[in-house]
Amino acid sequence: PSKKSSFTDPFSIVSNEMSSLAKNIAGLISSGHPTLNRVSSYYFEAEGKNVRPLIVLLLSKALSKIPIEQRNRVPIDEADVTTQPNFPGLPSKPTIAGRSVIDSISPLAILHGINPSIVLDPLTKPLGKLPELDKQNGILPKQRRLGEIVEMIHTASLLHDDVIDFSDSRRGRPSGNIAFTNKMAILAGDFLLGRASVAIARLRNPEVIELMSMTIANLVEGEFMQLKNTVFQPNTNVVEGDKQIPQATGKVPVQLHEYSVVPTRNPANITHEENVNAAFEYYIHKTYLKTASLMSKSARSAAILSGAQLDVVENCYQFGRNLGLCFQMVDDMLDYTRSDEELGKPSGADLKLGLATAPVLYAWKERPELGPMIGRKFSEPGDVETARAAVKACNGVQQTRAMAQDYCNRALQNLSILPNSDARSALEFLTNSILTRTK
Ligand code: FPP
Ligand code: MG
Ligand code: MG
Repeated sequence: PSKKSSFTDPFSIVSNEMSSLAKNIAGLISSGHPTLNRVSSYYFEAEGKNVRPLIVLLLSKALSKIPIEQRNRVPIDEADVTTQPNFPGLPSKPTIAGRSVIDSISPLAILHGINPSIVLDPLTKPLGKLPELDKQNGILPKQRRLGEIVEMIHTASLLHDDVIDFSDSRRGRPSGNIAFTNKMAILAGDFLLGRASVAIARLRNPEVIELMSMTIANLVEGEFMQLKNTVFQPNTNVVEGDKQIPQATGKVPVQLHEYSVVPTRNPANITHEENVNAAFEYYIHKTYLKTASLMSKSARSAAILSGAQLDVVENCYQFGRNLGLCFQMVDDMLDYTRSDEELGKPSGADLKLGLATAPVLYAWKERPELGPMIGRKFSEPGDVETARAAVKACNGVQQTRAMAQDYCNRALQNLSILPNSDARSALEFLTNSILTRTK
């Protein structure tokens, strides 16, 4: 009777938390401006996969099974922080130059439907209440809030991404840029980041604040690596005598807990194989920054909040990293294999955007003549079609799947450090289903 069913639906274990996710996020992002509210809540209205909060919640639950005596720092202040109304030392009623902020808001604002009580500095009022801690469940309020923060950061990046990628659809609806204009989509993304930052600060954990703030920077770094592809400039350092002079392109400073950088080579005597390897390394680092960073650093944060010891924290981080790399590789594969309708967003978009992701890199490995096309970002007539045919002929998609499988296996390996539990099985299930997902 103690034997658990081998099939565990990842959602069912944290279904209570998942069902309050949307409501809690709504509390974190409400503003006094009705249009801002509409734009910033737009992507939350259509059911996303919510895969990032799901990972945070399941991992938090799995971490709670670690006996308390095996933890470094037992969380003692988990109960109140996320609902704490005031910063110590701040007046309970916000004032500007002695006048209440409410008084300072023009009656015109009220005529325009702006609710003055919401215009107030959000730091001075509760940022959305969390339900009472369910003692049985083991997930701490801060960890729940972390799940909400992760989804907010992700959604902000999607609003910006759809502007950058000229997308016209997301989650089966017009994308934010189309529904509301680029300007409003960008501003709503910035707003979500601002509110996410407030919520991050309220977790009152310096390490977690650093990690989560870094993910925001990492997303932008990843996006820049994608914009400024240096496949043909893998030597990012020029050697002069015995001094290395860093160049502007491709060189990404090593960050906290991160995968390190593109190798430095002289392009004059670089072989095709070395060039391809450098391109793959660049691709993986870009993918880490763009996708895996948010998953890995939030997984690490969940572990830190649970008071887990360093080896557990490190494995949670690596779990998120491997899962994130797997996730984006599957995404890059689906761009070749699925239709717009199946994905709910434009498919076949990467080549059109000039992006050489794993499937085309595998084709290039076998067909060096694709190099110039990658270099000019498939901009000449026929390039996209030629590259697509080469991906097909060289099994680029299948090879990408194999690489994703490898990261999936590594992620499963990382999970084995956690005690056996329903939540761990659910994470294993989730990890495997990321590999087989079709959208
Ligand atoms: C989706 O990738 C986009 C990302 C994973 C990150 C995008 C990051 C930025 C736009 C930088 C700005 C960041 C913040 C925090 C505002 P994709 O375009 O490959 O996937 P898609 O097919 O879903 O569009
Ligand atoms: Mg995009
Ligand atoms: Mg993009």
